[in-house]
Amino acid sequence: MNFTRLKRILSSVVELGEEPATSLLQNELAELSRERAALSAEQDLRARQAFRRELLQIVHESHFCRYAYRKPRGYPGDFVTQEMIWLSRTNGQSVRYAGDTRRGRLINSVTMNMENAAANEERVYFLRRLVEGSSGGRVASIGCGSCIELWDPSVLARRSDWRYVLVDQDSGALEAARRAVAPSDTAVRTVHENVLKFVLRAEQRLGPCDLVYLFGLLDYFSEANARKIVECLWPVIAPGGELVVTNAHPSNPTRLWMEYVADWFLDYKTESTLLGLADRLPDCQAQVRRDSFGVYQYLRLRRQISTQSRAAG
Ligand SMILES: C[S@@+](CC[C@H](N)C(=O)[O-])C[C@H]1O[C@@H](n2cnc3c(N)ncnc32)[C@H](O)[C@@H]1O
Repeated sequence: MNFTRLKRILSSVVELGEEPATSLLQNELAELSRERAALSAEQDLRARQAFRRELLQIVHESHFCRYAYRKPRGYPGDFVTQEMIWLSRTNGQSVRYAGDTRRGRLINSVTMNMENAAANEERVYFLRRLVEGSSGGRVASIGCGSCIELWDPSVLARRSDWRYVLVDQDSGALEAARRAVAPSDTAVRTVHENVLKFVLRAEQRLGPCDLVYLFGLLDYFSEANARKIVECLWPVIAPGGELVVTNAHPSNPTRLWMEYVADWFLDYKTESTLLGLADRLPDCQAQVRRDSFGVYQYLRLRRQISTQSRAAG
C-alpha cells in the first residue's frame, strides 16, 4: 500500500483546516481499507510496518493516538481511552485538542471525528436509554469501565430500587466508577475480577437480574469464550429481563486507523455469529442491530415470560 497521499494530508492538517482534513482523511482511509482487504496476512503486516515507519511519529503528536498505542494500563480499550473519547465529543476542548504540536492537536480532533469515536458516543446514549427502560432495578454491568452511562445523575435518580453490580478486571476503572456513582444513594457493589472467572459463579454472585450488560467487552474475546460468557450469564436473567452485549462489526470503517495507529485489535463478529451466541439459550428472544456508523452491533437477549413463571407470578 502506498501512504504518500495519507502522509501529505496528515502533514498539512493545519493548512487544510480540520473539516477538510477530516473528509480527505476519511476518503483516503476508505480507499486504503479497500486495498487492504486484498492483502494476505503477511502483506498486511508489512504494510502496517511501513505505515508506522512513515507516519507514526506524526500521528503520535496526538495524545489520544499515542496513549492508545502505548497502553499504559497494559491492555487496549481501557476506561481512560473511553473517557477521552466521551469528553472530546461532548464537552472537552482541552481533551479534544490534546497534542504536542498544533498539528498533533488537530490530528487528535480529526481522530475524534471518525466513525468509531462517534459510535462510542452513540453507545453511551443507547446504554442510558437501556438502563432507564430496565424492567426492574437489579442491574449488572460487566466490563463496566468508569460507567460513563451513569455520570448523568438523572439516570439513577429515576428509581429508588437500584441494586447495581459493577464488574471489571481493572481496579482503576472500578475506583473511577465508584467516584462517578457515589453521590447517588444507589446500592452499588463493585467486583474486581476477570469476567471469565466471575461468570463461573454468576448465579451466586449476582442473583436474579433485570438487566445485565456487557458493552465494549466481548470484542476482546473469541467466539467460543463469548459464548461461554453469555451462556453462564443467561440463568441470572429474570423473566422479562435482558442481557445486552455489543460487538464491533468486521466492516468498522475506522478499523485500519485503530490497528495501524494504535495496535488496537478487536475480535470482530458478524451479525450471524452474534445471533449464534444465543442458539442454546432457553426462553430467549434474540435481536441484533447495527449502530448508525457501521461500527458496533447491539445484541439484545430477552428472557420470555414463560407460562410457568406467569402462573407462579
Ligand atoms: C472498552 S472498555 C468498555 C467500558 C464500558 N463498558 C463502556 O462501554 O464504556 C472495556 C472494559 O472491560 C474491561 N475488561 C477487559 N477485559 C476484561 C476481563 N477479561 N474481565 C473483566 N473486565 C475486562 C476493561 O478493564 C475495561 O474497563
